[in-house]
Parts: sequence; C-alpha cells; structure tokens
Amino acid sequence: MANDQSKNPAASLAFGPEDAKIINEFLKTQSHQVFKIPDVRVLIAQARLERLDPADIRTFDGHGDSVIDNTLEHNLNALKKAVAFDRPSQLINPLCQIQYVQYHQQSLKVLTIGPRSEAEIFDLIAAGFLPENIRGLDLISYSDFVDLGDMHEMPYEDNSFDIVIIGWVLGYSNDIAKVAQEVLRVSRPNGVIAIGNQHTPMTKEEVEKNLGYKLDDTRFETAEDLLAPFEGHVDQVYFRHDVHPSMRERNGDLMVIFQRPGDELA
Ligand SMILES: C[S@@+](CC[C@H](N)C(=O)[O-])C[C@H]1O[C@@H](n2cnc3c(N)ncnc32)[C@H](O)[C@@H]1O
Repeated sequence: MANDQSKNPAASLAFGPEDAKIINEFLKTQSHQVFKIPDVRVLIAQARLERLDPADIRTFDGHGDSVIDNTLEHNLNALKKAVAFDRPSQLINPLCQIQYVQYHQQSLKVLTIGPRSEAEIFDLIAAGFLPENIRGLDLISYSDFVDLGDMHEMPYEDNSFDIVIIGWVLGYSNDIAKVAQEVLRVSRPNGVIAIGNQHTPMTKEEVEKNLGYKLDDTRFETAEDLLAPFEGHVDQVYFRHDVHPSMRERNGDLMVIFQRPGDELA
C-alpha cells in the first residue's frame, strides 16, 4: 500500500487519555521523575512558592550587617518574582557529565550555596543526586532542603561535601577570599566545585550603586578569574564557560567546574 506522504508524523505523537493514564500510574511510585522535565520543575517550584504563606519564609539574622540586609532585600524581591528559576541547570548539566560524578552519584553529598528557590534543589534531584544527600545554604529559606546561614561562616563540619555549587552568588560577597576558604573547608579532597557568576559590562561603582553596598575588589572578567580565589587547590578543570568576545557589552555568564587534588590534607 502506498505511504501517505502528506501525513504529519508529529501529529501522531499527541498524548491521549490512555497515555495520560500510563503516566499517572508511573508517577504514583516515581513522582520525583516529573522534575526531569525542565519546564515542569520550574512550574512546580513557582506553584509551591505561590502557595506558600509569606510568614513561612525564614531569613538569616545578620545582626545589622548592611551587606546581609541589602542582599536579603534584593533576593527576597527576586524570589517573589520567580527570577532565574531555570538558570541552575546551566551549571548542573555540565557537572553531571563528569565521569567521577556519574560513577559515584548515588553517594555524593552536595551543597549548593545560594539556591534562593527550590528550583535548584529540583534540578539536583532531576540530575540524579539523592534527596537525602542534598543541602542548600542561603540567607533565605522556605524549604526543608535549605539551611539558613552565611557563606562566609558556614554551619557545617570540615570535609562534609563531595560537591559544592556556588551559582551566581559570589557577586554578593565583600570578602571572596573568606568564601573560598569556607568552600575549601567544607568540601573534601577530590571534591568538585562548580561556580557560576554574572559577567556585567557595568563598572564596579555602577554595580555597587545598584546593590547599595561596597563590593570586594575582585572582578570576574573570565572563567579563569573564578579560579583565582582557589589557587593552590585546583587540580583538574572540567568545564569553563567564557562570554563570547562579541557579547562582552551585555550581561553574560562565566562558569567553571574543577576538582580539588585528592592528596590534600583532610
Ligand atoms: C542570584 S541568587 C542565585 C540563585 C541561584 N543559585 C541561581 O543560580 O539562579 C543569589 C543567592 O545567594 C544568596 N546569598 C547571598 N549572599 C549570601 C551569603 N552571604 N550567604 C548565603 N547565601 C547568600 C541570596 O540570598 C540568593 O538566594
């Protein structure tokens, strides 16, 4: 019989009620699998935030520290507007291509500093990390996964985590050397550290005016600059992302993922 070439094969992919039944049955035992669909996990993170009683949003007490207070105000506003819910996967996707991470994923303990919303936690679950191995640390929390605390003085024991993620957070520090010291303290030898940060064509003064406080003098122009605070503790660099030279006049993303040497003293 002749093949009907005029048919649109994509139309045959449309889900019907029978498919919906299969999906519903599957999700009864595997509900976390819905997080594997990027748009769905953003929708769920947004919906959970909308349902939240604002009184359930806890904030870190900076005891009058103006950097903490300004950071909090700025990020509470961004949280309410659900800004950048889809951004964390930019770092988590390349992180999960590392063979060491793939091989040990079920046992690796992950800390994400500054997740802001639960979207970043859902990303980590979707990527295959076990929920019981994931902690977040932020000045804001409404989630059982996220501890309140300051990245300059983290409430964790030495050598607690195999992976530490710092996604678009260093820009809020006025002492980046201290943050790096803390990240090295709480991560293990052989641990993997993933950093993302914004590249901005704005001057330091313009950024400070926007934020309302003085920043660390460190400027991040390239992915290599993100490694500098960790000098002496960088073994393999697995991933670097720099802003394309033709795009330096707009906001962009710098990223780096590296492994600490295995023979560092624990
Ligand atoms: C721009 S958001 C990043 C959100 C998310 N990681 C992403 O990739 O889109 C920065 C987050 O860092 C948190 N943060 C800023 N300063 C911090 C500090 N000193 N200690 C812990 N978290 C901090 C903010 O509260 C905010 O949730």
